[in-house]
Amino acid sequence: MITQDTVAKVFDAARIDEVVGEFVKLKRSGTNLIGLCPFHDEKTPSFSVSPAKGIYKCFGCGKGGNSVNFLMEHEHYTYPEALRYLAEKYNIDINESELTEEDKKVQSEKDALFLLTSFAQKYFHEALLESEEGKAVGLTYFKERGYSKETIINFGLGYCPDNWDEFSRNALKNGYKKDHLLKTSLSKERGHDFYDTFRGRIIFPIHNLSGRILGFGARILKSDPKKPKYINSAESEIYNKSKILYGIFFAKSSIVSSDNCYITEGYTDVISLYQAGIENVVASSGTSLTVDQIKLIRRYTNNITLLFDGDPAGVKAAFRSIDLILKEGLNVKIVLFPNGEDPDSYSSNNRPTEVKKFIDDNSDDFISFKTNLLLKETGNDPVKKAGLIKEIASTISLVPDNIARTLYIQKCSKLMGIDEKWLFAEINKIRRQKFYEERSKQKREEPDITTEYPGNEKKDIDLQPTGSVEFKEKELIRIMLAYGDKEIFLDAVNEDNKPVVVPYNVLKVLIEDIENEGFDFENPACKKIFKELRNAHYDQNQLPEQYFFNYQDEGVRLLAVELLTTPYSLSENWENKHKITVATEEDNLKKIVFEVLYDYKLQKLDKMIKDNQEKLRLEEDNESIMGYIKIDKDLKEKRGYFAKELSRVVLR
Ligand code: UTP
Ligand code: MN
Repeated sequence: MITQDTVAKVFDAARIDEVVGEFVKLKRSGTNLIGLCPFHDEKTPSFSVSPAKGIYKCFGCGKGGNSVNFLMEHEHYTYPEALRYLAEKYNIDINESELTEEDKKVQSEKDALFLLTSFAQKYFHEALLESEEGKAVGLTYFKERGYSKETIINFGLGYCPDNWDEFSRNALKNGYKKDHLLKTSLSKERGHDFYDTFRGRIIFPIHNLSGRILGFGARILKSDPKKPKYINSAESEIYNKSKILYGIFFAKSSIVSSDNCYITEGYTDVISLYQAGIENVVASSGTSLTVDQIKLIRRYTNNITLLFDGDPAGVKAAFRSIDLILKEGLNVKIVLFPNGEDPDSYSSNNRPTEVKKFIDDNSDDFISFKTNLLLKETGNDPVKKAGLIKEIASTISLVPDNIARTLYIQKCSKLMGIDEKWLFAEINKIRRQKFYEERSKQKREEPDITTEYPGNEKKDIDLQPTGSVEFKEKELIRIMLAYGDKEIFLDAVNEDNKPVVVPYNVLKVLIEDIENEGFDFENPACKKIFKELRNAHYDQNQLPEQYFFNYQDEGVRLLAVELLTTPYSLSENWENKHKITVATEEDNLKKIVFEVLYDYKLQKLDKMIKDNQEKLRLEEDNESIMGYIKIDKDLKEKRGYFAKELSRVVLR
């Protein structure tokens, strides 16, 4: 946490014209400055900066705010990142509250490592451009690969002289610590020897989002089967390779403006494409793509295009990445390069316009990509084809957004010539299964206070309530909202004591039962919705379908939207409404109503038991203790009853 004090200092020091001026060309106009708005396309300036007020405002697109807002909007910094950027710009020491001495040590250690990596980058860069050896060996190599001087300078490429410990000695002489040289992998120690890790290699510095150097990739010049092609910096306090993407610092603005990010496999792919004018490109160098890397991209765009070698390893990596990207809710396309080519070689062998055209022409969405590739293998074998459909269904099931998922289902159904409804059913099944898996995983992670109660013997069939009371409350509210006006048929007896089956309204069953128990909802939004539903029920009113979507209380509105539009749980309401789905909860309504109701009651009772036991533990008065013990017994009895009821419902 940055202290309020520091925040205030930063805001005081930041001059809006200077901050914006680094990114936008500004002209004086009276007391203000004006320029072309960086947030939308325009030819005449409508973007105005007021140094007096400390704010910017665009009269074209409406964006506006202070220095921090500008950095967050323009550079996609988080709030603390924007503050740190400004603090650095204006030489303000950042005071972090809640920092222990230990934390402070870590922070100053990090700063020291950054100073060293920055020194090393400059050293290698100069060695490449100015030393005889660097020019003869490194620069020649880069030139042969077609890298222009501009590219070499832009990416800060370098060369580490092949002189055993030349760099390390220089670093030590300049006051950098041995310990830090080892931590950043720049030097190695063996016995009395202390020498350069990257000696005789060309250097690719790895930048963080604001351009600081985290570490290095170092490539050997001539291939040598006894030596690794690349040596990369090991993880350190400043370098976490699964959280950064090579090239992101150079790519980020272009990722935003093109609303797409290309992901390649290596350093050289990034650089060659960049030089060919494709700047929105990064690499997950040295690791397979991670969730953190995808989240990093999501700060800039929702669209990813994977550029991969067409060899089996490339295809396998692509398959894995596709699932990961879809799961994070981003869109993904794939380009495979032909026989033995990668983006780097393709850009070296073709003109920039041809590279662009190739990528555009060969971008496949993941369905076509997977289908076409797998169809080649399966041919006309029906068993294999069924396996393929399941494989694709499983990938589609990862897409969190209902509408996007539906579109993929429709596309897949056309492409494979299979029934859309069947695909929906298959995908819903997979999603439900995942939901249950998640649920039981969540359950396993929770301490189980319920084991010893009667009715719990069937532990292995997963009947215990899971999750929190709030979760159960939401499930109940969801059922009321989605199916409240439906009817279920319950057993009863008529005046002559004969068993009969009587239709009941779902809302009536649930509302009256919960009221009878005297249970109160804990989640405030659930509580409000329940109250509204209850009042409407007793007034014999039916609330319009949109009622809670337009509710004045934001919590209620968001909850209603959450419950009725996402696969938060089992319902596929959106699909239901659009009449494109098959068997769902509705067909099993009676079972589900009671399952959810009893599930809720069990969870609620557990909580009441726990609260009561806590009171019991703290109570000293004998009479009150007896009272709590009685309550405990009653609650447990009740709980045992509902546990049995629940198992009957589920096993029926
Ligand atoms: P490549 O072998 O495709 O390397 O590995 P490259 O970057 O295309 O290099 P050139 O074009 O042959 O010169 C792809 C990426 O995998 C990582 C590097 O990040 C590399 O860019 N890698 C590869 C390593 O970390 N270590 C290795 O030994 C090899
Ligand atoms: Mn390559």
